[in-house]
Amino acid sequence: MSQLYLPGLSPLPAGHVVNVASVKHRSPFRYPGGKTWLVPRIYQWLNSLPHRPARLVEPFAGGAIVGLTVAAERLTDQVILVEIDDQVAAVWETIINCGEGLWLAEQIGDFQLTAENVESFLRQDNLTPQERALQTIVRNRVNRGGILAEGAGKLKFGENGRGIRSRWYPATLWKRIVAIDAIRDRLSFIHGDGLEVMRQYVGDSGTVFFIDPPYTASEKKPGSRLYTHWQVDHAELFRLARRLEGDFLMTCDNVSEVQALADQHGFDSEAVAMKTTHHAQLTELLIGRDLDWLR
Ligand SMILES: C[S@@+](CC[C@H](N)C(=O)[O-])C[C@H]1O[C@@H](n2cnc3c(N)ncnc32)[C@H](O)[C@@H]1O
Repeated sequence: MSQLYLPGLSPLPAGHVVNVASVKHRSPFRYPGGKTWLVPRIYQWLNSLPHRPARLVEPFAGGAIVGLTVAAERLTDQVILVEIDDQVAAVWETIINCGEGLWLAEQIGDFQLTAENVESFLRQDNLTPQERALQTIVRNRVNRGGILAEGAGKLKFGENGRGIRSRWYPATLWKRIVAIDAIRDRLSFIHGDGLEVMRQYVGDSGTVFFIDPPYTASEKKPGSRLYTHWQVDHAELFRLARRLEGDFLMTCDNVSEVQALADQHGFDSEAVAMKTTHHAQLTELLIGRDLDWLR
């Protein structure tokens, strides 16, 4: 049985690189900038709070591994996912809001993933929202790095030379979607602006926030190649974070621009180790009010 990180485990030192194979993968997406590696620290963070929060808001949900884990493990009563991207939103709308997850899972099982089918399906634009969800999953699985933004290239060789099929695991996707369908009563999805939804809960002390914006605060803007919507007003995001009644945990790229914003608002920050898909060891910056639980 794979090891699961559960609340109450002793802290992981900031330099510890989490083995993502030991974290349960719950998202149907392979998401660029996905936070599977952060999941053990999410348990630590929520466990460090004096009261169990009623609600978690994830304003930049993407593949939503954090929100899905929190809902599945009942770490809060409710989880609100927010995402602005139409393609990503189609998937969450279909599974969470429309209750059509089983339909989607079956369609994935039936899809004949050949180069010709992929090409003609990805070209279609007159689709129902549910078909759009299927199209997004196919695109996410055949594009390099799971990138959905325009201009992303397709996998050429992939694992064991399987090319576009190398990330196509219909049975696994089926299981993950069915599992999300089963916890749908604890999940809500909003297709919109994460900052706007944060404003709605700004005064609610029972709501906590996991904030993972596109990494575009620095000159380099690594996130601009990964997402269709990559422009975020980081200064406003930090101002808003300061006004939140409930606690928050933010992740950003470890660059001087972000560190300056964190310092300016009196936030605590800590560089934590993570591994990229190319196995290079990098650090990202975790930001919060008090990160003593991390040390
Ligand atoms: C770093 S990714 C999130 C990755 C996610 N934490 C995961 O583990 O998969 C940032 C996401 O924010 C979304 N986004 C950008 N601007 C947004 C906005 N104003 N409101 C909501 N989502 C936004 C992007 O489309 C992208 O999916």
